[in-house]
Amino acid sequence: MQTLIINIKELIQIREIGIQKISGSEMANLPLLKNAFLLIENDLIVDFGLMSVCPTLSNPNIIDATDKVVLPTWCDSHTHLVYAGNRVQEFVDRINGLSYEEIANRGGGILNSAQKLNETSEDEIYEQSKVRLEEVMKLGTGAIEIKSGYGLTVDGELKMLRVIKRLAENYPIKIKATFLGAHAFPKEYKDNHSGYIDLIINEMLPKIADENLADYIDAFLETGYFSVEETERIMEAGKKFGLIAKIHVNQFTAIDGIKACVKHEALSVDHLEIVTDEDIEALKNSITMPVALPSCSFFISIPYTPARKMIAAGLPLALATDYNPGTTPSGNMNFVVATACIKMKMTPEEAINAATINGAYAMGISNTHGSITVGKKANVIITKPIHSFYQLPYEFGSNLIESVIIEGNSINY
Ligand code: NIG
Ligand code: FE
Repeated sequence: MQTLIINIKELIQIREIGIQKISGSEMANLPLLKNAFLLIENDLIVDFGLMSVCPTLSNPNIIDATDKVVLPTWCDSHTHLVYAGNRVQEFVDRINGLSYEEIANRGGGILNSAQKLNETSEDEIYEQSKVRLEEVMKLGTGAIEIKSGYGLTVDGELKMLRVIKRLAENYPIKIKATFLGAHAFPKEYKDNHSGYIDLIINEMLPKIADENLADYIDAFLETGYFSVEETERIMEAGKKFGLIAKIHVNQFTAIDGIKACVKHEALSVDHLEIVTDEDIEALKNSITMPVALPSCSFFISIPYTPARKMIAAGLPLALATDYNPGTTPSGNMNFVVATACIKMKMTPEEAINAATINGAYAMGISNTHGSITVGKKANVIITKPIHSFYQLPYEFGSNLIESVIIEGNSINY
């Protein structure tokens, strides 16, 4: 089946095959063609170029994109989209003056979601999660990473990862699964950290590997959660089971965690609301992608990742949602891109690079996703008629997406 998109006003994020990520001053460039066509065959991009050389085909499905912009779908490399229920009460408590930390200290936060998760059946969690997945696909997300981490028990963690697997089997979107058993210490292990880490390493990891349920391993490296040494144990254990690290770090405090993640060749370090000069030095010339989560900063009123400082230092940067019930109950990458521009002072070009090709890198799929490249997956957003791609972050509260194609499928849930 061939689909030919014609008269595209701007076809943006065109890249040669082999480009994995974009760093430093290169992030300011977003290669594009004006008045272009794009040809899709089955699930792949097979050709694109100027309308002046648009091929004549026998019987293609034609989409007229006059006055519209076409871009690759978003690559959301950090989410906790699988969860049970919600935490609206904590939202109201924060409005009334409590901090995220105070709520967590009274047994709310991650442990609150873990209790709900363990009380909810696998089928019910699947039903709740698929609604969220369908919503973000309609909002232009074409590849997504989803973490466990609200089980914190052997059964709970396996249940979450099985739901992620089922979503991956039932939807055309690329899903990468991350095991986040080290998200918080369950109450019964409050004073026995090594006991819980033993459970993760000796019980959870072998079962997860056995059922092939995860691609990556994560931990919440933070004051009051997992220390640098505890996280290193987890990263080392993950490696033995073939799971590369993607680590939550520097959300509230900088405790030299980034250096440890780089040493263990983490694929990404995520959050980075608090970043020191030493952290930036550690990331230079590494394979580790820094990932910013601006809707988390927005929702719980914490600092934004210092994007300008990091880009000026020559680093790459990716953007993701962090979709989760506690700190970011939104999976909208369009909002993330707009917030990165408005609050982190990233240019639209930088923000789009961060949300596409660099996001793809941060989930290990930049060979197949994240740009308009012949041979990559046919994952595109077609906008409504707009004046230029700048309008996407500029009109931050509007949905300017007309249609989404993921692996050649038109998304209409
Ligand atoms: O990425 N920081 C750790 N984990 C999540 C929030 C977890 C929660 O509050 O449920 C995050 O923000
Ligand atoms: Fe997170």
